[in-house]
Amino acid sequence: MVQFKGLDILSTKQFSRDDLMYVMKIAKSMEPFASCKKQSDMLKGKMLASLFFEPSTRTRLSIECSMQRLGGRVVSMAEAAQSSSISKGESLQDMARIVGSYVDVIAMRHPVEGSVHAFASATPTPVLNAGDGPGEHPTQAMIDLYTILKEKGTVDGLTVGMCGDLRYGRTVHSLASLLYHFKVKLVFIAPQELKMPAAVSQGLGLQGLPIEETTDFGDAIGGLDVLYMTRVQRERFTNQQEYEKFARVYELSEKLMQKAKKDLIVMHPLPRITEIPTEIDTDPRAKYFEQARNGIPVRMGLLALVTGAITK
Ligand code: NCD
Repeated sequence: MVQFKGLDILSTKQFSRDDLMYVMKIAKSMEPFASCKKQSDMLKGKMLASLFFEPSTRTRLSIECSMQRLGGRVVSMAEAAQSSSISKGESLQDMARIVGSYVDVIAMRHPVEGSVHAFASATPTPVLNAGDGPGEHPTQAMIDLYTILKEKGTVDGLTVGMCGDLRYGRTVHSLASLLYHFKVKLVFIAPQELKMPAAVSQGLGLQGLPIEETTDFGDAIGGLDVLYMTRVQRERFTNQQEYEKFARVYELSEKLMQKAKKDLIVMHPLPRITEIPTEIDTDPRAKYFEQARNGIPVRMGLLALVTGAITK
């Protein structure tokens, strides 16, 4: 098992199945605090810095709420590229040294893949990767695992479909790598130009996991137990016309939902644009708002673990 106290959470590849199941257990124990049925000040005296160089709603606010609901405090920089000394030419490493000496834990999001790793290497303070460009989003993947376990009771034996922009979507990179440890079948549904990067799919192949890649959403949906929809990541395209070409490539419809299993669960890390129309929200299989809510217990658990408030 990894030692969680002081650990940077940068990639889902850092964790074994036992590590992940331990995080799930701690997250579950946070449910009474997440739903405010009980109060806790287990993070009293601890301070979080959240540094966001890219837009965020759920990730930043759920990390900050999790910290504060457990009695911790928060200093926060949104639009950090403009508002911090990075705009004067300071390096991310120098920023890490300084911020790391002020606080007990840092959450950071940045548009450049690998940047959060570089930042984390310059400070002993634990850093949560809240998204590094098209790289990874490991805490989201843990929320996704928690949601699947909560809704389906198990992960082993499921067929999990990931649909949309699998090239630039960091949540699916982290989730696919996390699912290495489970006996799942993965179905990647994406246009050729937006398919899952070879580094991720080859890694899965090496684990002997069955993977199917297709462009045909209508054909694939009927076989799925979990459908993970994603947004086409407009900000990653250098050419706006190229984005327009794929913007509406897959849209879930009531007709498609009729072809799906009765006990399918539909997930999405959100924000959704047109890939899930609002008509689907009232379908009992739509679980994306519950998924977003699960961000609180899972991030409470991670904050308690990396700050050492919970130790084995
Ligand atoms: C995702 C992200 O930022 O990668 N959002 C999130 O954190 N829940 C997904 C996205 O922006 O498409």
